[in-house]
Amino acid sequence: MKKIKLGSLEVNSYVYIPPMAGVTDLAFRKIVRMFDKDTLMSTEMISSKALLYSPDQKRMKLSPDEHPVGIQLFGHEVNVMEKAAVMAEEQGADFIDINMGCPAPKITKGKDGAALMREPDLAVEIAKAVINVVKIPVTVKMRLGWDDCNKNAPALAAKLEKIGVCGFTVHGRTRQQHYTGSADWSAISEVRKAVSVPVFGNGDVKTPQDALRLLEITGCSGVAIARATMGAPWLSSQINQYLEKGVFDPEPTLPDKIEIAWKHLIELIEVKGENVGVREGRRHLINYMKAFPNASKVRGEIGKLNSKEEARCFLLRLKEELAVKNNLACVG
Ligand SMILES: Cc1cc2nc3c(=O)[nH]c(=O)nc-3n(C[C@H](O)[C@H](O)[C@H](O)COP(=O)(O)O)c2cc1C
Repeated sequence: MKKIKLGSLEVNSYVYIPPMAGVTDLAFRKIVRMFDKDTLMSTEMISSKALLYSPDQKRMKLSPDEHPVGIQLFGHEVNVMEKAAVMAEEQGADFIDINMGCPAPKITKGKDGAALMREPDLAVEIAKAVINVVKIPVTVKMRLGWDDCNKNAPALAAKLEKIGVCGFTVHGRTRQQHYTGSADWSAISEVRKAVSVPVFGNGDVKTPQDALRLLEITGCSGVAIARATMGAPWLSSQINQYLEKGVFDPEPTLPDKIEIAWKHLIELIEVKGENVGVREGRRHLINYMKAFPNASKVRGEIGKLNSKEEARCFLLRLKEELAVKNNLACVG
């Protein structure tokens, strides 16, 4: 496999699972690494400002054995971003990713996230300041621009590369598009041509075949896959296999998905406690069970789960209903 070099960080994966708030936490990352330990991943986005008030943010927590992993920061105040970056480095991150792509109004109204693409000088100033205070590589995640009339991603990326940003993730939509329409992969290639550091093309990749097509169209070094990995933590492994060998392992069987879902829930409970773990876990369980017979009934039942024990009984019953005799080994 051709290594992707983000500054001093060498990555043995064509796949980056970029930040997803409420998804790419410690538990999710651990499950992904059961299938492919080298997948590049990042935490959920973390507010630089919130970090200053409460440095003990759970989202910052990394496991000592999870590498390569980045911490994504958002914010628009230079000195606040500097302090947050130092904290992220001390936490053990392999790289810092600066969020210049989040479209949510509550983020952009304060000049954070995608709003930074409208303030390219400020965006460059922030990145420069962050690069100056840390030794680890700094990357940027961006969209194509604010709207159709302002697609400045190539120009901004070129400026950011000049001051030392060593990799980009480009979501092929504008801020105005949020998640509507489809990602414009050929527009991503304009960013790729504007810089010489690695670019991860992002948007609407659902399968290994999609990943190959995106790489062919954009010429990017790698592919960033977010939503399609929800309930499919094996996807990055399948994509890496496909890009290396042209074939990939089939996805797990339905009974195996139940085992994986259970492991994921246990990790969540470990990290966040039973109440929060089960509450947040429902969304993940629903994602794992998407292809199950009676999926809508299954969804309804998952929505009612309130404890680890209820979840355990539910998953056991589901497995029995799938006419599988052997017990859930890890459920007991
Ligand atoms: C639930 C959810 C949360 C997200 N949170 C973040 C985030 O914290 N930071 C970020 O840069 N992008 C975030 N994104 C955007 C994704 O990283 C990605 O750019 C986008 O979903 C497009 O990729 P996809 O088509 O593979 O999903 C989020 C997306 C989703 C669906």
